Amino acid sequence: MAGTGLFVSLEGIDGSGKSTQGRRLAAALEAEGHAVTLTREPGGAPGAEAIRRLLVEGDPDRWSPETEILLFTAARRDHLEKVIRPALSEGRVVVTDRFADSTRIYQGATRGDLRGLVDDIHDRVIGIDPDLTLILDMDPQVSLNRGLARGSGEDRYEEFGLDFQARLRDGFRALAREFPDRCVLIDAEKPEADVAESILAAVRPRLR
Ligand code: TMP
Repeated sequence: MAGTGLFVSLEGIDGSGKSTQGRRLAAALEAEGHAVTLTREPGGAPGAEAIRRLLVEGDPDRWSPETEILLFTAARRDHLEKVIRPALSEGRVVVTDRFADSTRIYQGATRGDLRGLVDDIHDRVIGIDPDLTLILDMDPQVSLNRGLARGSGEDRYEEFGLDFQARLRDGFRALAREFPDRCVLIDAEKPEADVAESILAAVRPRLR
């Protein structure tokens, strides 16, 4: 935990509804009088968004997993310095669509067996994890269809295919078991409003 605010991340496979749920969570908390910063990774600050474009566009094999770890971490460091730490020190609730767990699972456990490297770099240059991580759990076939349907030109990760998404799902479920105090697994196949309610129920007891 950093500062006095509350740091919340949303995680899950591609197309699991994190962005929609992030917007709903931010709106619900604001309606209850909380100051909220809604942000995302990779990105969330101008420099980090420039790095995002290098990561999400182009050939699936454009970068090795090791290079990706460095690029995602560079973007995260910028996001942390420019947006997350200042907001937390003002006592705001920070809701981020992805954070370091995405690197642990995509680069550390799924694209390669690089979790040790991910953890070393995280400890040295990032050094914090969210107070609460909501893992949106969903069948990869459903999420893959939704992800490709977006047609945003950012489909590099979705293009690794269904097996990749299935391994990601297993990775995120294992992460929830590894960090039971911080992570809450949310059934994201339920209707959107029910998912939003489960998320609020997990966040409320942690609000200050
Ligand atoms: P997004 O679609 O959730 O905005 O994320 C873009 C892609 O980047 C998504 O497929 C997940 C991937 N990603 C990683 O591989 N490692 C990371 O550390 C992060 C933050 C995202």
